[in-house]
Amino acid sequence: MTAETAIARRSFQPFEYMAWAKQVRPGAAYPFNVSGLPAPDPSLDLGSLAWGDCLGPSRTLLDAFIEKLAGLLGVPGSAGVVVSGASEAITVAFAPFVQAGQPVIVENPAYRAMERSAALLGGVPVHIERREDEGWRLDPERLDALLRQTGAKLIGITDPHNPTGVSVDTATRAELVRTVERHGALLVVDELFSFFRGPERPPLWAAGSDHVLSLGSMTKGWGLSSLRCGWVLGSPQLVEPCAQAFDLLTVNPPTATLTLALRALDHTRQLDEYALRAAEQVRQTLAATEWGEASMVSPQDGIIAYLKLPRGWTSEQAVSVLRERHGIQAVPGHFFGHDDHLRVGFAGDGYDPAEGCRLLASCLNRT
Ligand SMILES: Cc1ncc(COP(=O)(O)O)c(C=O)c1O
Repeated sequence: MTAETAIARRSFQPFEYMAWAKQVRPGAAYPFNVSGLPAPDPSLDLGSLAWGDCLGPSRTLLDAFIEKLAGLLGVPGSAGVVVSGASEAITVAFAPFVQAGQPVIVENPAYRAMERSAALLGGVPVHIERREDEGWRLDPERLDALLRQTGAKLIGITDPHNPTGVSVDTATRAELVRTVERHGALLVVDELFSFFRGPERPPLWAAGSDHVLSLGSMTKGWGLSSLRCGWVLGSPQLVEPCAQAFDLLTVNPPTATLTLALRALDHTRQLDEYALRAAEQVRQTLAATEWGEASMVSPQDGIIAYLKLPRGWTSEQAVSVLRERHGIQAVPGHFFGHDDHLRVGFAGDGYDPAEGCRLLASCLNRT
């Protein structure tokens, strides 16, 4: 191609983790790269779909879904947009509120979709640090200082957190929300891991404030990734511009997906227990492993943890050696912000997670 015929394009930072995740070599004996559960099939019976169930218009279905979902998640009466997974929810929730050239506060470490989306929309991501020596908690005072320093009016966080699996406690949540309100800012909370907290989980963050949008999906804890069903929930004033952004992107959620997703809401006890059981098993397995020089903050909610490597490893090196020697597939921590960490996740059967952890620890603790 000559310089004259090159097509002009704007440059944006790709979402490197997702590109990597899509090309992971299949067949690992210990697929510790996962962060969501497989479908709870065949115990979950959502019935079959007839062609008539797949045809639009879907307005009635959509209204029924949002009403039922909002009630189940502790935000009855909320407005909502149903989108194609939490990924689209991030863009739809950010699109109306990211201002060109203005700061957007996002976490570090993090699953970087919020950061990349903010930048794609013209915002300037600014990190709020979660620190390992503080148990990866979100510090309201640090947020307050950063809001004062940058004048940011938009913050995006994930709770429970990816990659560490830790949750924000009730008192800290209230303090964070008060801080956001005091600064007249908007907080977008990606809550797609919340189903791992089981049926007794707290209501969505949006329940406590009209300065908060909550987003989520059926992907992780409920194992229904293939439905590609996600949402943005909050007050009508906040959700309306998100719905306008969605009009540009997808027009309507697929009727077939909505039909099955609405049916899934009749099985939430089963789905929540499925998620909670998996999270508890992971906590037990991790607690029973001798980690040696490797270490981690015990995850509270979810099936993922962020493992600190013994000195001397880079995350790519560790991932490659673990895969070659033991068939363990982990995720390099540099995708989330730390090259001296790995993200490990445990889902599904067909392998013994305790044995996988034992192999992982013994391999990493080599001298
Ligand atoms: C924090 C976070 N947000 C969003 C997503 C994307 O979820 P979905 O598959 O529902 O689009 C993921 C997937 O790993 C995630 O970890």
